[in-house]
Amino acid sequence: MGNKTQRKKPRQNKNKSPLRRKIALIGFRGIGKTTLSQLLGNIYKTEVISLDKKIEDEVQMSIEEFVKKEGWAKFRELEKKILKEIAQKDGVFILDTGGGVVEDPDGNLSQEKIDILKNSFFCIYLTMPDQLLLERLSQLKNTKTRPDLPGGAEKLPDILEKRKPMYLEAAHAVVDISSATPAEAAERIRRLIG
Ligand code: S3P
Repeated sequence: MGNKTQRKKPRQNKNKSPLRRKIALIGFRGIGKTTLSQLLGNIYKTEVISLDKKIEDEVQMSIEEFVKKEGWAKFRELEKKILKEIAQKDGVFILDTGGGVVEDPDGNLSQEKIDILKNSFFCIYLTMPDQLLLERLSQLKNTKTRPDLPGGAEKLPDILEKRKPMYLEAAHAVVDISSATPAEAAERIRRLIG
């Protein structure tokens, strides 16, 4: 007699409320902004915009190639231009930002970019303990092609420390996702957004 496998019903999307504002996920590289943006896009059945992808579409090359060719300062200027354009878009959506979106061309706090974020989006700063994030980043190294930041991998702890006040300046909410699966983290954010 064949064993009757119990098909699990697909998890119903419990969320019934529509997205009512533009959301931006901010946080250091490798924290999981892209994964959570996609999950939130599914939960809210709304558009997800990747700032990095819009930049690559604009210059028709990867960020890695652009930075190699033009340098970080030019990248930060371009990032600001594209961020401004996206912020002016009508409607609601989830913005998946790049980890350095809060920086100016000199690698310092960009008040202009932070103001665009703060004034146009509900910004959610994703965090986890530094050590955990740095370990994740070193493992991600072989998979995701991200250009090294100025100073290379050994400078990451300093850059992480430098950026924390920048993210906090832009954030409307801070979510520690270290003890959550991506789905749990997305649900935590959904409850926050409403
Ligand atoms: C950057 C992070 C990247 C990308 C670019 C710069 C950074 O985005 O914008 O390589 O300055 O940390 P992710 O945070 O999605 O990796």
